[in-house]
Amino acid sequence: MFVLNRQNSIANHFLADLRDIEKQKDRLRFRRSLERLGEIMAYELSKDLKFQSAMVETPFLKIPIEMVEDQPVIISVLRASVPFYQGVLNFFDKADSGFIGAFRKENEDFQEVEVSLGYMAAPPIDGRTVLLVDPMLATGKSFVECVNHLLKNGTPSKIHIVSVIAAPEGLSYIKENLSYVPHQFWLCAVDEKLNEKSYIIPGLGDAGDLAYGPKL
Ligand code: URA
Repeated sequence: MFVLNRQNSIANHFLADLRDIEKQKDRLRFRRSLERLGEIMAYELSKDLKFQSAMVETPFLKIPIEMVEDQPVIISVLRASVPFYQGVLNFFDKADSGFIGAFRKENEDFQEVEVSLGYMAAPPIDGRTVLLVDPMLATGKSFVECVNHLLKNGTPSKIHIVSVIAAPEGLSYIKENLSYVPHQFWLCAVDEKLNEKSYIIPGLGDAGDLAYGPKL
């Protein structure tokens, strides 16, 4: 498991901006911080991919440069992932993309009951490397549901789960329920716990609402 904030870097500033209740009022800044973290995570994750030599002709010489062998497929879990996904795509700019709509179904006490999936548009993923991108890994249920849904498009060689903040409960849930697919976690931070409404503590609140405004 890769956890970005286990080593101090400038990325801590973007994480701090996302969490800060005052700075969260600036939606553009919130979205840009997610996008910047998406770029940083894409860079870190790229080190784990296979590379092959390609010849590049400079104005003076032909030289070999190690390039990513196979472009991954990036799956964006709507809606909160959009800015974070955009950051990942900025770096993997030749990758194919897919989109899945996932939302929590809550009861009257606003306690999460289950995850519902809606829209899906995704390319074939058989034998390919998939990056499943969602900034908040809370219960882990939406990740597992999304993977099960995605498997209709083929069996990926590996799934990289890319998230900003994860709760330990969600990590355990995914480990228990996704053992049949090779996967690896790429996280910016692992927080303390979930609260009774399945929000991550200390977390940052509702990432989708902070990026785009409240929904009905
Ligand atoms: N989704 C969010 O946006 N925030 C959480 O804390 C958990 C899930």
